[in-house]
Amino acid sequence: MTFIDLPQMISASGSVMLPGSKSISNRALLLAALAQGETELRALLDSDDTARMREALATLGVAMSAAGEDGLRVSGSNGRFPVRQAELFLGNAGTAFRSLTAVLAFAGGEYVLKGVPRMHERPIGDLVDALVTCGASIKSLEKEGFPPLLIRPAVIRPCSVVKIRGDVSSQFLSGLLMALPLAGAQVTVEVEGELISKPYVDLTLNLMARFGVAVEREGWRAFSIPAGARYRSPGLYRVEGDASSASYFLALGAIGAGAGNPVRVIGVGKDAVQGDVRFADALTAMGATVEAGENWISAARPADGKPLTGIHLDCNHIPDAAMTLAVAALFAQGETTLANIGSWRVKETDRIAAMAAELRKLNVRVEEGADFLKVVPPDAAHPLLPAVIDTYDDHRMAMCFSLATFGVPLRIHDPGCVAKTFPGYFACFNTVARPAPVIAIDGPTASGKGTVSVRVAQALGFNYLDSGALYRLTALAAREAGVDWADETGVTAIASRLDAEFHAGGVRLNGREVCEAIRDEDISSGASKVAALPAVREALLFRQRTFHRAPGLVGDGRDMGSVVFPGAQLKIFLTASPAIRAVRRTQQLLERNEPAELCAIQADLEARDVRDLNRPVAPLRQEADALLLDTEHLSIDEAVAKVLGWFTDSSCG
Ligand code: DC
Repeated sequence: MTFIDLPQMISASGSVMLPGSKSISNRALLLAALAQGETELRALLDSDDTARMREALATLGVAMSAAGEDGLRVSGSNGRFPVRQAELFLGNAGTAFRSLTAVLAFAGGEYVLKGVPRMHERPIGDLVDALVTCGASIKSLEKEGFPPLLIRPAVIRPCSVVKIRGDVSSQFLSGLLMALPLAGAQVTVEVEGELISKPYVDLTLNLMARFGVAVEREGWRAFSIPAGARYRSPGLYRVEGDASSASYFLALGAIGAGAGNPVRVIGVGKDAVQGDVRFADALTAMGATVEAGENWISAARPADGKPLTGIHLDCNHIPDAAMTLAVAALFAQGETTLANIGSWRVKETDRIAAMAAELRKLNVRVEEGADFLKVVPPDAAHPLLPAVIDTYDDHRMAMCFSLATFGVPLRIHDPGCVAKTFPGYFACFNTVARPAPVIAIDGPTASGKGTVSVRVAQALGFNYLDSGALYRLTALAAREAGVDWADETGVTAIASRLDAEFHAGGVRLNGREVCEAIRDEDISSGASKVAALPAVREALLFRQRTFHRAPGLVGDGRDMGSVVFPGAQLKIFLTASPAIRAVRRTQQLLERNEPAELCAIQADLEARDVRDLNRPVAPLRQEADALLLDTEHLSIDEAVAKVLGWFTDSSCG
């Protein structure tokens, strides 16, 4: 399973150039392909969902070619695709699947439409029924009412009224509306049930109008397509930035940006045609500072210095961006209820269930209903906990949970799923969100780095990670469980469910104080052995990264700068000669009234050095960007002062 580990973030600021809107891109591609004449589409989104639409149109014989830096020239087919028989794979792209089903029903060819397994669980029966009343021939190839579908040529009856349900997915109505001009006759579509996600229908009407078909609408119940309507190319069409993608960055600003230094998204503005721009209103209702211009929107924390406040919102108008509110709610005072979100259940995954399950992993109190979600923010009795988040092949789950890192470090599984709509998401996230600083201090055993690290952490008020203690705990736990230190599978199982708890001045294993037991020379030798096992290191990686919290961290070990915290703000390689280290260790043991023999100690630490230096995984070495701190002739105070000075320099630089 691929993953991305994100540390706790402490602030956000900066600008993000949004990728093009998925909803607009896929509609514009389809209408350009159906239109009379050639269209140049600019700033189209390049993502999985738009790739599926482009592949489908190419398979249908639509000619497309690059035009300039961010343009695509589409030769319209004037309502008749050149290829009359084809099998189309549409992945999990709902916008492509629903609209192509409707359009191909009227196209006079024989087509099979398929998707990924989840697409085959997403209902389409209401759209198919509406198309069949117009005379279309469409068959479900597996389960009635679900993809995959077989579409056959049919005699389209000029029917004056078509009814369609509006309360499952607005994409049914959008698909039908975009297809009906191909039928040629005047027709009225009547919506049954409450129409959900109205702004997406509005977007469809807006795009159709740009391509020459003006639909008359009576409220949200009836839509009339005039007789003789035909799509005509507008020549040039520029796609707006994606308003749903904007929601993550605006939320980042509302959670982590100072009012004078907001997060700004570029590509959508106050007059955007996408409904999800109204997400900005939801943030305003939570108290965030939101501003907008023609082509940008910015967000920052409440100007009065108060926290965000929870809201109770009917989210029918922002079904996708509303997911972002579920995670932003963790940083608000008071609970947040998102109502009228039943459509979440038939999206890329059952988003209500998925959101509730993953929030609970963070120790969040959540109430889930058929069409609502209530989120109670953390408090002292229910703090956020680091967790491994599953994303259910749902881009929005991955993007939403990245925001939770303002509370805790997280591991997010399958981060590549963001490619559905925003392939560069995590790179953008990292340019805007600023992590808590890390000082990584690596070096050989008994070099004094433990003492220096603790003192530096105390001076800065930072958290402290004694990573060696985790290997020592693993060695001790393995010994107690009777597992041989060379048994990689056995030791890895122990490392991955290590019940260890660090507390002021000590550490507990399975609830028992083991501070001294893990320092025993025998366990020290075992730690060095288990630390050489790659799977053990892998099993302890995320646990180490969960220490990367606000306000900052000092990590002490062998691979802090190379593996665990490669992005550390300051990396130090702290060392001294084996002879002086042996003297220091001997003194330490004698002070604790433990037996100590200088020669034996030096031989043992040199043997450990050899193991740490020569192991194939994460060997001890000075990273190219690490500063060397030789403590041979330095007192502890001098070493600490040196590190603090370097840290100040790195913070200023
Ligand atoms: O720092 P220490 O002596 O407590 O470490 C105990 C063992 O764990 C030592 O043999 C090296 C190993 N170790 C490691 O491999 N990687 C780390 N980051 C920390 C310690």
